[in-house]
Amino acid sequence: MSAITKQNYRGVYHFSPQQNWMNDPNGLVYFEGEYHLFFQHHPDGMTMGEMHWGHAVSRDLVAWEELPVALVPDELGMIFSGSAVVDWKNTTGFFEDKPGLVAIFTHHLNRPEGKPPVQYQSIAYSKDNGRTWIKYAGNPVLTHDTFIDFRDPKVFWDKQQSRWVMIVACGQTVCLYHSPDLIHWTFASEFGIGIGSHDGVWECPDLFPLAVDGDKDNTKWVMLVSIGADPAFEEGSRTQYFTGDFDGAVFTPDEASRSIRWVDYGRDNYAGVSWSDLPEEAGRRLFIGWMSNWMYAQQTPTEGFRGAMTIPRELTLETRNGEATLIQKPAKELEAARIPVLSLTNVSAQEINVACASLQLDAYVIEAKLTPGTSAGFWVKAGAKQQTVAGINAKTEELYIDRTASGKSDFHELFPGLHSAKLAATNVAYDLCIYVDRTSVEVFAGGGQAVLTDLIFPEPESAGLAAFAEHEEDVFLSLDIYKLSSSAAD
Ligand code: FRU
Repeated sequence: MSAITKQNYRGVYHFSPQQNWMNDPNGLVYFEGEYHLFFQHHPDGMTMGEMHWGHAVSRDLVAWEELPVALVPDELGMIFSGSAVVDWKNTTGFFEDKPGLVAIFTHHLNRPEGKPPVQYQSIAYSKDNGRTWIKYAGNPVLTHDTFIDFRDPKVFWDKQQSRWVMIVACGQTVCLYHSPDLIHWTFASEFGIGIGSHDGVWECPDLFPLAVDGDKDNTKWVMLVSIGADPAFEEGSRTQYFTGDFDGAVFTPDEASRSIRWVDYGRDNYAGVSWSDLPEEAGRRLFIGWMSNWMYAQQTPTEGFRGAMTIPRELTLETRNGEATLIQKPAKELEAARIPVLSLTNVSAQEINVACASLQLDAYVIEAKLTPGTSAGFWVKAGAKQQTVAGINAKTEELYIDRTASGKSDFHELFPGLHSAKLAATNVAYDLCIYVDRTSVEVFAGGGQAVLTDLIFPEPESAGLAAFAEHEEDVFLSLDIYKLSSSAAD
């Protein structure tokens, strides 16, 4: 494979490690002007192995700077997924002069002679904005006798009770603990028996409050739970969500949570969690996911590095069909990296295609509005005999991505395919927002209610773009195309 092809498999505005393997986002925390993105990293190999925490920072959620590895394996095991918080009140006693960061993560210890591995929770702290870390001498801080799978602690400060809360995956449930100091933990409750999808092991949970329809007096709690790939299910790894109430100890799901609801209906948004300690706008929730799927993650055809994150997204709750529904939109910070390319109103697909005929775009976003009831969409990364299709099927009321002919896909038999999400019926214009990068397509519709994220591996020269609609007279009410650069300042 040529160097050019290799380079073209690295996204322009998606974070990927300079070298070797990456999976889950870890330790997402905002502190002193920096968004920290730690990540599961095998710095010496192209597949999962001796796991470390890699580290990147951004000031604008667009340009990411990769920093040296943050946490390395030790005698307690490898460093698996977890979270980070700012210890504003110095509850740990680790910080004398100013607040600092505490990482709460899983130590995974492989044991000899066929004994199962052990997983327990440990902490580390940083007094220099995450550049160097000191592991707590009393690690691990939380162990469990029963669960073999006991991992991925996500911690937040519970203002009502003035204490820390940890949600952690335990086999096929999650457990909640609380602590005054991040060191001593008390069991509070277990959630997940008889509810949700159990198609795989539960991993990487998150729990946070959101105002429903922007009403600060009507808050619900959202729980995210990723489920690992099981060969019996062709979707591979996926992330589900629950809505409900949380009293500081117990999460009580609401009626809507009796049905299984996925965060993303594509194949490549896994282990996503939200940022801790976001600044000014209280109540804002930013999320990022690992843009891959354990089903084929270790076989994807990149060279020199493997793994990328989704774009950062803002999560909100809106009432749809009487239910508090998770809404996902690209973080507004991405708008700073947009360069307008084309803006049209009331045009047919044919007219769009005349305007787009000579466009060869690498990384871009399409925003379109369609008359309700119109089946239409776009061919992106289109070239000789290959394209990815993203659109709306009005008859089935679905948003979809079809990557059956999207480029390289022979590394896994289940990679090619058409993936879809139900769109809530609407009589206002259909909105379609498509983020395209060198190896990914992320589609948002229904005001962020339907979301699909799929990896693709097109030939670098497949840079064509075209619109289609079911009927010649169908009209795109508006169409805007922007190039996206890798930095907001470009
Ligand atoms: C999820 C996961 C986590 C684990 C990590 C190991 O993708 O399996 O449960 O901590 O990856 O890299």
